[in-house]
Amino acid sequence: MGVSEELAVRARHAIPHGVNSPVRHYDPYPFFAERAEGCRMWDADGHSMIDMCNGYGALLLGHRHPDILGAVTEQMGRGTLYCTPTALEVEVSELVRGNYPSMEMSRMVNTGGEATMTAVRLARGYTGRDKIVMFAGGYHGAHDTVLVKSGSGSASMPASAGSPPGMADHTIVLPYNDLEGFLDVVESRDDIAGVIMEPVMANMGLIPPRKGFLEGVRHTTKQRGVVLIFDEVVTGFRMSPGGAQSYYGVRPDMTTLAKALGCGFAAAAVGGRRDIMECLAPGGTVYQASTFAGNPVAAAAAAASIHTINGMAGSLYPRLERQCGRLAGAVRDAAADCHMPCVVHHIASMMQVFFTDGMVHDYDTAKRADAHTFSRLFAGLLERGIFVAPSQFETAFLSAAHTDQDIDMVARAYQDALGAMAT
Ligand SMILES: Cc1ncc(COP(=O)(O)O)c(C=O)c1O
Repeated sequence: MGVSEELAVRARHAIPHGVNSPVRHYDPYPFFAERAEGCRMWDADGHSMIDMCNGYGALLLGHRHPDILGAVTEQMGRGTLYCTPTALEVEVSELVRGNYPSMEMSRMVNTGGEATMTAVRLARGYTGRDKIVMFAGGYHGAHDTVLVKSGSGSASMPASAGSPPGMADHTIVLPYNDLEGFLDVVESRDDIAGVIMEPVMANMGLIPPRKGFLEGVRHTTKQRGVVLIFDEVVTGFRMSPGGAQSYYGVRPDMTTLAKALGCGFAAAAVGGRRDIMECLAPGGTVYQASTFAGNPVAAAAAAASIHTINGMAGSLYPRLERQCGRLAGAVRDAAADCHMPCVVHHIASMMQVFFTDGMVHDYDTAKRADAHTFSRLFAGLLERGIFVAPSQFETAFLSAAHTDQDIDMVARAYQDALGAMAT
């Protein structure tokens, strides 16, 4: 029995289903990680692999980037938790505003889910309305309002048990990329507090917005006094230093950031229009709090991440987009050579494969793709030393640490794995 297998047996007795987050589970058992550096990880059995999961997008700069480690180590020498304000927190919110001008004010929190929970509560508190619109297959964290027909690890369940049905009644779920359907609903109701959306869907595979969709959503929400929340937990810093909102030139009322904000540390932020953000306690009536919010280690990681990303931006984003386009093209060609019908989506440094012969533009069309074939691809890639997220309802991510040679190796592994599946 290998070390990962032994650990999996122990884990199943101590941790529900052996994992601390459901997306980490796959059959027969996940590999157990031991260390990582740059774009590589090593498992407990000594195998090395190229990481294309990249902390589900968090590791934009790769594992153990020296700037981030340096800032965090220096901060740890001065303390890890004060629970009174620090200059670092001010710096982070100022840096965030510099990259995301729509985030006139922001608060640091610990996770993406905490950020979206706060954004949704603020939308309700600010407007005095109850309903929240989201798009099917979007994932915004594991809290009741947004765990309805959501993507990522929850894609197998229409709603979570333990979430009272009355909660889901306040969530209106619409198909992504269907502007007419969206307008029909939002223009006919007066009880919608907010719309929360991933500007580019990255939790049901990867699905970019149709031309005009984001602009249409923005226009109507503004007209109807509905708070538009861009959940940029994945796209923030990944699409561009200013996220998807800068990439597409659409300014939301509120934004949530996490993942690449901390480049491997638990740093997240919720921010937006000053008049909305000032509804937060203590001065306002919307409550949000956390012992660890804005803790100095996370704040040091966030400040260093933003400085480093901004410093590299001119060369980093064009390189990632080029590498990602090349990889997607190679995967498309390999699948065509094997006569495997498939659609490959890519944008910025994100890519996903759908085994289907139809277009993929929303959750229904994403679910038509053959998830079983995707699981075989995942296993084939892992055998060849490439780690992508195990599920069809996720996305592969490149990082600053991937060289052209690394991407060539990844492309070859896709070609070999697809070839083996076709024979
Ligand atoms: C778009 C999006 N929003 C929110 C979240 C929740 O973030 P966290 O896992 O940090 O709570 C995720 C997590 O994958 C996400 O992809």
